[in-house]
Amino acid sequence: MTKQSIYKFIILCLLLTNLHGFSQLHVINVNVSNPIAPVQPTMWGIFFEDINFAADGGIYAELVKNRSFEFFQPLMGWKIMKPDTTTGVTILNQSETNPSNPRYARITISSGEPSFGLSNEGFRGMGIKKGEVYHFSVLARQFPGSKLKMRIELVSPGNKIIGTSGVIPETDTWKKYEVSISASATEQKGRLNIWFEGEGTLDLDMISLFPDDTWKNRPGGLRADLVQLLADLKPGFIRFPGGCVVEGRELETRYQWKKTIGDIAERKLIVNRWNTEFKKRSMPDYFQSFGMGFYEYFQLAEDLGAEPLPILSCGMACQYNTAELVPLDQLDPYVQDALDLIEFANGPSDSKWGKLRTQMGHPATFNLKMIGVGNEQWGTQYIERYKVFAKAITEKYPLVKIVSSAGPAPSGKNFDYASEELKKLNAQIVDEHYYANPDWFLKNAARYDNYDRNSYKVFAGEYAAHGTKTGAPESHNHWKCALSEAAFMTGLERNAAVVQLCSYAPLFAHVDAWQWTPDLIWFDNLRSYGTVNYYVQKLFSNNKGTEVLPMLMADKPVSGQEGLYASATSDQYAHEIILKLVNSNGEAQSVQVVLQKAGKLLKKAVITTLQSNDLTTFNSLDNPAMLHPVEKEIEINGKMASLVLEPYSFTVVKIKKEL
Ligand code: AHR
Repeated sequence: MTKQSIYKFIILCLLLTNLHGFSQLHVINVNVSNPIAPVQPTMWGIFFEDINFAADGGIYAELVKNRSFEFFQPLMGWKIMKPDTTTGVTILNQSETNPSNPRYARITISSGEPSFGLSNEGFRGMGIKKGEVYHFSVLARQFPGSKLKMRIELVSPGNKIIGTSGVIPETDTWKKYEVSISASATEQKGRLNIWFEGEGTLDLDMISLFPDDTWKNRPGGLRADLVQLLADLKPGFIRFPGGCVVEGRELETRYQWKKTIGDIAERKLIVNRWNTEFKKRSMPDYFQSFGMGFYEYFQLAEDLGAEPLPILSCGMACQYNTAELVPLDQLDPYVQDALDLIEFANGPSDSKWGKLRTQMGHPATFNLKMIGVGNEQWGTQYIERYKVFAKAITEKYPLVKIVSSAGPAPSGKNFDYASEELKKLNAQIVDEHYYANPDWFLKNAARYDNYDRNSYKVFAGEYAAHGTKTGAPESHNHWKCALSEAAFMTGLERNAAVVQLCSYAPLFAHVDAWQWTPDLIWFDNLRSYGTVNYYVQKLFSNNKGTEVLPMLMADKPVSGQEGLYASATSDQYAHEIILKLVNSNGEAQSVQVVLQKAGKLLKKAVITTLQSNDLTTFNSLDNPAMLHPVEKEIEINGKMASLVLEPYSFTVVKIKKEL
């Protein structure tokens, strides 16, 4: 042996015994030429529910709260400025002529009386940006002979004017007036003031303020920064509208898609079921205007290249609340709603509902392929109702896949019952939910390894690890939770033969108006950021690949041995092998991945790591990238990827095949 080769031998031995903590070297084999299942394009998606101000006050960019005076208290969100005058605001009701939006405000100033105004507080303030344009609009009518003018102001919390314009309603019939206002300053908690000057009587409804800068610059559209965060996830599907809002606390307040389309002034507002659900987080001003309704949802899914996955009421109100039931012999209107939704999405322009879609601006179909029957339902009552829906949908739309519910928990009596029954009924996709502590996620990473490959497919429709909060609500989204989710998700990916859709829940939370934590994306009126959990989701979704590759450590799936979790896919279009590895231990671990039958590989690979030694780390509005993915290059030695997995880390490796 030459001196040089002795040195080489010693270095190799040192590497093998692992300089990083002297732990053992783990050898993992990936059989590249033997994919075991396709990864569905829908694998990683989005769960959208109007909780935590996700819609009104969130993604729906409307800045005026209670724009149509339909909240239980008609002037909630509004303040009368200078109320000491005898002039006044009254609320009138025209329910006979406009049952969907009956109330409006009447402003009266008698001769010689001073002007006064109405001020809207927005959704915990209005986010106004310097240099941006804002579109004010109002439905108004002015009594004959009346001469009232409206002065519109954007103001700071201290009432400093940061933008102004005016409207003079001219007719005595309802008409929409629009003006644009440029903002001269940035305010996180701005307000809208409307001053009335002159004398007479004026009626007002649908008082609205939108930023010009919306997603795709659509008037009355969605908040661009929030949609961008969704777009960056490259979601395979969007589940909508929930969640419990699907069911309602009682049947009356269930989500009814037909009331969420067409003219926004005709969309009947209802109370949001999260409004007073939690005593400590009571939000009496939480309503659903449906400004983001079913049309906007389909459009968003289309924009993001995601499959729509609507979930509809199956005639059962939330079983945690009233558990109201529609008798089986009165289920027809509910079933018809589901059939009509499919026609709204897929029907030709001369069909009843396809025509409405066309009139709203979308003659092309939305190509709906899946529909969910009920949200988080359980028991015999659910199975009975599911059967009725499944029969009707399959008869009319045999190609539309039906998602059914396994209830709120991933195990136990209700889960076992649903699972057994749904198997017997040849259910296609079953929605499983798991909100549990990080240890549950680590221990259950192999959950699907032995699931029946010949039965239904799984939709991991709502999941999130719930650890302990260390302070601010956003601290609930800490690294320990996200890391355990990453570990669990390697198990979802490894079992893509069974698991075909997955979505973290809930999606959004306003820092001043949340009910539920943890959440994937936090925002205030001007800013937004992805949590560490968001980055985990993004790394999986952006690197999903097209086929699962067998990956074994000592002949077993890598599912918790020595705190390691891993999965592998290949991407037949990008000609890549993608490895995902989680080290849940507090010490670095050396891993050698042997890429069997891989053909020729490029020598350099990209490795992306999310890592922190501090499991309580979390991102926040002030520190949105406290933890974020870091990329570097590594060398591939023939068929070997030698990796040092840092403590508490999630690593994605992308290795290109030589063409
Ligand atoms: O994601 C929050 C809630 O959790 C959903 O509304 C419900 O489906 C589940 O219980």
